[in-house]
Amino acid sequence: MKIEEATYALLEELKRLRSEGLKEIYFDEKNVLALEKAMNSRESDHSENLVSILEGKGRHSLASSESFNLSSSLGDSKHAENPPSEEIRQKGRNSSFPSAPKLELPEGGKAEKWNWLKDRVMSCETCKQQLNPNAKVVYGVGNLDAEIFFCGEAPGAEEEQKGEPFVGPAGNLLDRIIEAMGISRDSVYLGNILNWRPQHSQAYGNRPPTIDEMEFCIPYLMAQIQIIRPKVVVALGKTATDGLLGHNPKRRLSDCRGRWNDLEGIPLMVTYHPSYLLHNPSKMSKRKVWEDMLMVMEKLEMPISQKQKDYFI
Ligand code: URA
Repeated sequence: MKIEEATYALLEELKRLRSEGLKEIYFDEKNVLALEKAMNSRESDHSENLVSILEGKGRHSLASSESFNLSSSLGDSKHAENPPSEEIRQKGRNSSFPSAPKLELPEGGKAEKWNWLKDRVMSCETCKQQLNPNAKVVYGVGNLDAEIFFCGEAPGAEEEQKGEPFVGPAGNLLDRIIEAMGISRDSVYLGNILNWRPQHSQAYGNRPPTIDEMEFCIPYLMAQIQIIRPKVVVALGKTATDGLLGHNPKRRLSDCRGRWNDLEGIPLMVTYHPSYLLHNPSKMSKRKVWEDMLMVMEKLEMPISQKQKDYFI
């Protein structure tokens, strides 16, 4: 990967993290030096931006204009109001994108309905057209009697290859969170807002879904929720939250996590996406996610040990 591409990817990721509500980021000294060294030999605008960002080293505020203002770093005042991923979403608005499918679940038990829906998703022409080469459409997996329905954003590189949600690094972390709750991956249900990995021009990273893409896939997700009838839905990250609660560019995850929201009568807990924790593995972020999970456990009257209560403190 070229340094310009890597720099661009890093800036995009920082913007995404900020849109998720991250205010500070920790740069490891060794990595700062390596990046500085690599970028000092270049003269691209992005490199200059990043070098100036990194010059303070250590902990950087993603909001403070003194140490690091992403909006001005990127020379785009719109970023101050709209999270950057919001711009990507809006840019992708396309009036010719197919309208959302109308679904009417068949009569029958959960398994029948779930299999019927799976057939619909796997044979969905729009979903197939959106796929990257050799990739698979990804439908939800898990226990049809699950009490907890975890909803993510969209498949990533590993998921689109395997055709299963949450099998990459974020999925491994989600598995660990689920295990820390004293339950197994097999006992919950895992779904995504999108059934495909959003295409983009870079060979690395993930693009947030556009509003068109989300609107198209939401009926498939809501039908899965209707079939499973979980006692609690957990929205992982901003895209899942927007998909489930309605699009709201001003919404900050930090404002709606840590309390109960309502999804058509089902209690909905919003929390940070595991990939956010992978990028920001501070004790504070982990503790926040864990507190959200403790609320889920309390709601479901699951046993909670003292050790579990004290996790990540
Ligand atoms: N991230 C998601 O949101 N969903 C997946 O399935 C994998 C990673």
